[in-house]
Amino acid sequence: MARSADAHDEWWRHAVIYQVYPRSFADADGDGIGDLAGVRQHLRHLAELGVDALWFSPWYASPQADAGYDVADYRRIDPAFGDLAEAEALIAEAHALGLRIIVDIVPNHVSDQHAWFKEAVAAAPGAEARDLFWFRPGRGPDGELPPNTWQSVFGGPAWTRVTHPDGSPGEWYLHLFAPEQPDLNWNNPKVREEHEDVLRFWFDRGADGVRIDSATMPAKDPSLPEFAPDATPPDHPYIDRDDVHSIYRSWRAIASGYEPARALIGEVWLADPDRFARYLRSDEMHTAFNFDYLNSPWDPSALRTVIQDTLDAHAGVGAAPTWVLSNHDVTRHVTRYGRADTSYGHALRQHGTPTDLVLGTRRARAALLLALALPGAHYLYQGEELGLWEVEDIPAHLRQDPIFHRTAGQDVGRDGCRVPLPWSGEEPPFGFSPTTTAGRTTAPTWLPQPTAWAGHTVQDQQADPDSMLTFYRGALAARRRHASSLRGDSFRWLDADPRVLAFQRGPGFVCVANLSTAEQPLPPHSDILVGSATGTPSRDTVAPDTTVWLRTD
Ligand code: NOJ
Repeated sequence: MARSADAHDEWWRHAVIYQVYPRSFADADGDGIGDLAGVRQHLRHLAELGVDALWFSPWYASPQADAGYDVADYRRIDPAFGDLAEAEALIAEAHALGLRIIVDIVPNHVSDQHAWFKEAVAAAPGAEARDLFWFRPGRGPDGELPPNTWQSVFGGPAWTRVTHPDGSPGEWYLHLFAPEQPDLNWNNPKVREEHEDVLRFWFDRGADGVRIDSATMPAKDPSLPEFAPDATPPDHPYIDRDDVHSIYRSWRAIASGYEPARALIGEVWLADPDRFARYLRSDEMHTAFNFDYLNSPWDPSALRTVIQDTLDAHAGVGAAPTWVLSNHDVTRHVTRYGRADTSYGHALRQHGTPTDLVLGTRRARAALLLALALPGAHYLYQGEELGLWEVEDIPAHLRQDPIFHRTAGQDVGRDGCRVPLPWSGEEPPFGFSPTTTAGRTTAPTWLPQPTAWAGHTVQDQQADPDSMLTFYRGALAARRRHASSLRGDSFRWLDADPRVLAFQRGPGFVCVANLSTAEQPLPPHSDILVGSATGTPSRDTVAPDTTVWLRTD
């Protein structure tokens, strides 16, 4: 396996990791859905971009009720994406290009088409097969009410009732997400053994790490109690219970048993930085996504606070921070940063509000250089290197996200950030799917692409020195060039106007981000290493919504 010289270092501490959302990356077979052969065709794009690792959203066999986060079989690849041999070939080819691979593991739930759940539904109440999930009798005279009033994250009740073979109503099962995603009972040792085996399965196939989905949720209070809407951990029956940590301690032991050690990366949405940091203790996960940073508005004081809180929380446990601006669940940040309210919250997708994409793009460029200069690892979501914006005008009948359907459209859902990538050409499918000689695709893309993406394709952007793609490549190359300053923990805020974030990383390296509306003076420096605005940067000042990296001697 070809690897860079530092193959055995703790790469997760400083890597730039690119999230591949397989459905929307590239479609080689023309069914309108991305696939692993499509990824293989474009691996060079990722290597040339300059990232260190690829995280794949789930590629396993799945009915796709939640775009693959409903796993029916972890040891098979979904036929829409390819097969196991294709995944193994992809891993080998990525490794040969120096790219590490992270696969997604979803411990909280499986698909309702998973063999275990089918067996559980077919079994009688009280059977061993049902104990792998949370089956309970209903309340009310005929059990017609769910066992409690818990609500699904996706809207509606968190319980669905099953029927007996004769059609009569039976028990209810818990699903914190869609009904097609029954929650597993982690108190049952078989659930633990199976997931540990799944980890080994993918580590044995060369996966360099796992991203752990909904990592705060698998452990439940077995009495399934009602709880107040403002309940917070540790007094919450399923968010961040103290007993969830034993799962990750076992996983860490498995990951550490490999040579080189494999990485555990958690999806940990928690407001309390101290509770968050508990997942990063030295015998648990290596890193976790920093959603406070993603949620933060483009505001100097809010960003300063979140950066400092992040550094403090991680320093306490000796873990490396992560910086993330977009993923497959949130509004793309070019759009967020172009609005009057630049923060993000699940309840606040703000579709339809006025958006200045030119401003959002300028800020997104500044935000990249700011984040790449902070200590820790950086996550990119596919398409941000093209400056793609949220697609807000997908017709209701083409929307796929269960959030949209389960909230009757009140929450528009996540389809707008999942639209297939534009690779080339002047009109949809923009090279995402192959075209016939008549210029037609064999099937429409699974979500429609905006015609306004003409001019934003990879092909267009790679020839344009001012494009987002050229900027991302340059920024990632600069991060590698200045690795001696940017790796490690060294970080010191510099005195500056309160609307400017200025900090030093290592001797001779300074980052200055101007979030004010006026030009701001630069601190003394000998060279401007890279800047986020197009055109030649001024020697003495930094423009509004612009970040520069400086050499100071
Ligand atoms: C978090 C994932 O990122 C999201 O896409 C998914 O719907 C939920 N977990 C449930 O698996």
